[in-house]
Formats: sequence, structure tokens, C-alpha cells
Amino acid sequence: PKVTFRAPDGDRTLDVPPGTPLMQAAVDDAIDGIVGECGGNAMCATCHVYVPADAADDFPPMSEAEDEMLNCTASERRPTSRLSCQLPAPVHDLLVELPDEQ
Ligand code: FES
Repeated sequence: PKVTFRAPDGDRTLDVPPGTPLMQAAVDDAIDGIVGECGGNAMCATCHVYVPADAADDFPPMSEAEDEMLNCTASERRPTSRLSCQLPAPVHDLLVELPDEQ
């Protein structure tokens, strides 16, 4: 699917194979708004994204580790906050918003 990463300075859209973690896709394509310091282990919170409010069902439920890490994000946590390393790309197009800071 096509995944659009919406950053304060504009949108970038990538073709991401289903199942690829969104953090990985973003880092591989040098999307600045995603850092992914811990390599995808839900231990750094530098891959924070906001997913669409109706997209919760597209992704695996949040683990306890992810939930705890989301309390340590640089930008405000919202109800739609997720760690993108824990989000395999769904089979359809998607837009995620990047926070101001990681
Ligand atoms: Fe570290 Fe996602 S890459 S929490």
C-alpha cells in the first residue's frame, strides 16, 4: 500500500509492502521525522506517530511495553499515538502524522 507520512514541512508517500513495520519503511527511505533509535524494540519512543482515529483495527493491539514507552514521547501523547515500529503496514493505503519532535 501507499503510506503517507505527514510532517510539519510536508507529506512524503512511500510504497510499503504489507507487513513491513512503518518505522523500518520510514528509516529506509530517510524520512526525517522518524528516528527509530532502538531498532524497533519498543524501547526508545523515537518512532512516535499519530494514526487516523479509525485505523485502530488495522493494527495489532498495543502491548504493555508500547503503552509505557508512549508515556516518554518528546511530543504530546494523544489517543491516536502509536510507536511505528510496532505497526506492520496494512493492506490498504494509510496516512500517518508525524509529531513535531522525536
Ligand atoms: Fe524504538 Fe520504535 S524504534 S520504540
